[in-house]
Parts: sequence; structure tokens; C-alpha cells
Amino acid sequence: MKLWGGRFQKAENRVMEEFNSSFPFDQRLYRQDITGSMAHARMLGRQGIISDAEAQAIIEGLRTILEDIEEGRLALSGDHEDIHTFVEAELTARIGEAGKKLHTGRSRNDQVALDMRLYARSAADELIAGLDGLIDALQKTGRDQDTIMPGYTHMQRAQAVTFHYYLQAYVSMFRRDRARLENSRELLNESPLGCAALAGTTHNIDRRQTAEELCFRKPVDNFLDGVSDRDYLVELLSDMSLIMVHLSRLSEELILWSSQEFGFVSLSDEYSTGSSIMPQKKNPDACELIRGKAGRVFGHLSGLLTTLKGLPLAYNKDMQEDKEAFFDAYDQVVSCLQVMTGVIDTLQVNQEKMRLSVKQGFLNATEVADYLVGKQVPFRDAHGIVGRIVLACEERGSAIEDLTLEELRAFDGHFDQDIYDYIDYRNILQKGNKREML
Ligand code: ARG
Repeated sequence: MKLWGGRFQKAENRVMEEFNSSFPFDQRLYRQDITGSMAHARMLGRQGIISDAEAQAIIEGLRTILEDIEEGRLALSGDHEDIHTFVEAELTARIGEAGKKLHTGRSRNDQVALDMRLYARSAADELIAGLDGLIDALQKTGRDQDTIMPGYTHMQRAQAVTFHYYLQAYVSMFRRDRARLENSRELLNESPLGCAALAGTTHNIDRRQTAEELCFRKPVDNFLDGVSDRDYLVELLSDMSLIMVHLSRLSEELILWSSQEFGFVSLSDEYSTGSSIMPQKKNPDACELIRGKAGRVFGHLSGLLTTLKGLPLAYNKDMQEDKEAFFDAYDQVVSCLQVMTGVIDTLQVNQEKMRLSVKQGFLNATEVADYLVGKQVPFRDAHGIVGRIVLACEERGSAIEDLTLEELRAFDGHFDQDIYDYIDYRNILQKGNKREML
């Protein structure tokens, strides 16, 4: 069925019909569509635009449709242009004439804008919940499996940190992602219902009533903008892209750390897969997929920006392209957050391997120089002295703390017995602002 056709003399081409239809993908908006229509019908009744009895019949009809869909009694199928057509056709089939009055003072342009805002708002809430779960897992795993480990710059061992503190860096990233989502949610929370096609309506509708019933902060300021604004989807896609940047960086670390070369962690069997030919393999597929899906989500962001950039006001059919992009990105990010939470929750940490890498990496070299500075050696000279010590240690295959006091003194006379305590890794982390890492 179609919601138009009066002015048409020829039937729509079959290929065109399929090309134009959004029903296969916008049917996931059924709840938002029905909820929005209920609010619209209630307002039409209150304003005396339709009778109370008609409003009641529409609301009751919509309620049974929603219930039947959710309980599997009504399939989202058939030859419909979009979800809006589906719901209106089903309503009219159920309640008759009154069903045809639902669309009074409304267009599919403000209807779809409303549905997408409602969907985006709950998507933001879901993503926030997903981030919270991941943040909890990072904090718990860090606390339970804390140990010292090498921190890197240029992917070269640099200074000692703790595993807990390392994971806290990701907690900071995901907290920023959360704040961004809250902000996007706040900005998008304005109701476009009542903008109608682009220029409002001659009916005496009340946009504030519907906005309030649907828990929006206020109705949008401008009708033309209200039906054509998709900024909030771009913003959420950008928020999701940054989540994917962070998830992908974490994935990359876990992939490296779980390699035999690092051996810092092992991923649980639950989140790994094997090879069909090499029996010894245990692959970090969960992390690789997350790293791979990041590109897919960025693609949707740049796709939607490109779709929107040349559009004149107000609604244009190009905008229908927002849905598959947004839905797919959202689905991917929700499942990536869920999988990463599981990976972190079940992560095994090889504390011994981490400690050994710290020892072999001269990660206390900076502190040896700091020690000499404490004995009034200028830092630049201390840097040179420690460089020579490291060179000698490398040749002998020993750590700085393994040298005897006599050997150390051969490099510089300021070394004393207290050097060993000073450069012990646990003690280092108690000094200066490094204490903040504990
Ligand atoms: N399927 C359309 C979309 O997703 C719904 C709005 C249709 N409006 C119209 N004037 N054809 O954008």
C-alpha cells in the first residue's frame, strides 16, 4: 500500500519501487514510530482537531499493533514503502475510518525526523551503558592483576608503570567518550514533530504537548531545520568513531601483548579461535575484528557527511541514506563494547613476564640519573654517565641494579649504597608525582 497516488496516472515501476523502499531497514523504528503517533493522536484529540473517540480508537489501535509486533503476532513484512506506511495501513485495517485521520497536521518528514531522534536518544543511552560495563571491567581487571610493566614510547621500553595504571589510561578515554555521548544526547533532545512537511500546518496543533509527552527538552526552533537536521546522527557517528579508535588501540595492544614475543597476557579461550591447519595456534580474533570494524564505522561517518553536504533545505530523499549507516555503526559499536568487556573480564596476565621485561629494559635508567642529580651532578652530565653504564650492562647482559657499588663507582664517584633502594622499581613508583600512578 501507498500513502500517496491521487495525482499519479501510471503505477510505479517495480524496480523503482524496490529502490525507493526503506521498509527492509527502517522497520526497526516501529516502536518509535508508534510511540510518536500515539503522542500525535492524543494531541490532535486534546486540541479538538479530531474527536476524543477517534483519538482513543487510534491510541488503542496503535497499542495493540505494538503489542502484537513485540509478541510476534504481527510480522513486519509485506509490500510497504516504509515503516510509517506499514503502521498506518495496519491501523486503518484494524480500526477503520479513524485510522485515516492519524496523519492530520503531520508529514512523513517530521515523522521520520522524530523517529530517528527517538532512536538516536535511546542508542546514546545504550552506548553509555556499554561504556560503563567496559569501564568497570577495566578497573576490576587492573585491580585484581596489578603488577609493574614496561611503558613504551616509540614502541621502545621507556619507564616502569603499573598494569592497573595502564588500563586506567583507557578508562580516561572511555570516560571522555561517555561525556561526549551525554552531550550529543542533550543537544539532540528537541522534538521535530509538528514541523510537518517543512512549513508547519494550518491546524491548531500544539508542539509543546507532544514534545513533553515524548520527554524532549523543547520543540525545535525552526520547521525547515527540524525536518532536515541530521547533525545529531553525524555527532553520534563521530562519538562512535572515537569509541572505535580507543577500542582499536586497546585491541592492538592486546594483540601484541598476547603474541609469543611479548607474552604479557593471554586471552581466554572464550574469546579466541584456532587455525584450521596449524594446531598450535590460538588467535586473538575478537581484538582483530574490533580493530577491523573501526574502519567500517569511520566509513559510515564520512559517508553521511558526504550525503548531507550538498543538500538544500528542507527534506530530500537523500536523507533516507542516514539509516543503514547509523544502524550498522550502532550495531557494530554495541557488539564491540560487549566483546571487549568480555575480553577484559577474562584476561589472564603473566605478571612474571611483565616484571622480567621491566628488569631487562633498563627502565630505571632515568632514576639512576635522577639519583646523581640528587648528589648535585647536573642532569645533562648524569644523562651521559648513565648512558655509558647502560652500554656496559648491555654488553654483559646485566641490569643496572646488578652492578656492584665498586663497578658503579668506576663510572662516577657519587654512587653510594642507597642507590639500590633508590632504583628499586616499587620504590621508584613511590617517588615524586609517580605516586599518582599507584
Ligand atoms: N523513508 C523516508 C526516510 O527515511 C521517510 C520520509 C519520507 N518522506 C517523503 N517525503 N517521502 O527519509
